[in-house]
Amino acid sequence: MPTRVIFGSGSISNLKQIVEELGASRLFLVTDQGIVKSGIVSRVLERVPKIHLFDEIEPNPKYSTVNRAGKMVRKIKPDLVIGLGGGSSLDAAKAIALLATNGGNIEDYEGKGKYRTSPLSVLAVPTTCGTGSEVTWVSVITHTERKFKMSIKGPEMFPKVALIDPDLLISLPKPLIASTGLDALTHALEAYTVKPATFLTDLFARKSTELIFRFVERAYKNIEGDREAREKLMLASTLAGLAFGNSDVGAVHCLAESVGSLYDTPHGVANSVFLPSVMEFNLPASASRYAELAEIVGIEGESENEKARKLIERIKLLCRTLSIPSFKDLGLKPSEFLEIAQKSFQNNSNPSNPREAAVEDYLRILEKLFRQS
Ligand SMILES: [Fe+2]
Repeated sequence: MPTRVIFGSGSISNLKQIVEELGASRLFLVTDQGIVKSGIVSRVLERVPKIHLFDEIEPNPKYSTVNRAGKMVRKIKPDLVIGLGGGSSLDAAKAIALLATNGGNIEDYEGKGKYRTSPLSVLAVPTTCGTGSEVTWVSVITHTERKFKMSIKGPEMFPKVALIDPDLLISLPKPLIASTGLDALTHALEAYTVKPATFLTDLFARKSTELIFRFVERAYKNIEGDREAREKLMLASTLAGLAFGNSDVGAVHCLAESVGSLYDTPHGVANSVFLPSVMEFNLPASASRYAELAEIVGIEGESENEKARKLIERIKLLCRTLSIPSFKDLGLKPSEFLEIAQKSFQNNSNPSNPREAAVEDYLRILEKLFRQS
């Protein structure tokens, strides 16, 4: 993981110095309207005033938006792209940095290492507690006509610097603390149980799981007044990013990305809804791994299966406490379940899932959730 990580409350005040250390003088800032309204962009502009601003990134960033920014960036010729925001803005910043040096459209680079020239340097500044994108090499961009989330990745796509300031969470609305916090939990749980997990990624996943269970409710209740909770939750999010970035995600993300591409469902919400059901599906392959994580969060039981099941129940309870929308709220049409299941099966991460998941398995998960809703 070649990204230099700078972590700490108030660390955004070092932005100018970091930009200077990178030798950058022409800057291109990629963000979204929510971050502009929150006042975070103006705090950045105070520190580095000469900057080209692109604030049109939407949730589940579209390829057309990224391509438009790509054209702009090739005219402006910056030497650094700053991504400021949640996963959408950070992923878009990485994609735009690629288009700056390679030309063409982002869909030309779908897959691993398809670019010819190294992308521009990226400075990633996360403002949510979920994405982990600040420490990974992947950018996920939605192709709206294909209704598919493309993964564009490669060793040169890691951000040069991740500047992680937990104080930026202060203006994050409660529902986003909940959904991005549970996205981070999904990263940790999937990284720990998928086939590519390693001893090293386990360390990050275990610590991240522990921190999320300890601090997410406190952060949700009082993000402004509880400095410890927001620092620990932000740290957990980055640790979970390190975990899945060097391991993988599994069937929860396969479903969440399929639903996100079809319905524009926020990524963290979709993950939260599918997490308990996929864990139940994975039980035959992952009970012992879930039991290990259950022990870390203080769950006791007679057997691995009992501990694993209690962990799943704990997650369902957490979703209710954090007012996460239900499966019904997603508004998925049963007539589209087959398409969701097929897209999930085609997802790059499907082969990593601990238990083999066929189209029929995804279909069964969706139908069961529908019956229970
Ligand atoms: Fe995620």
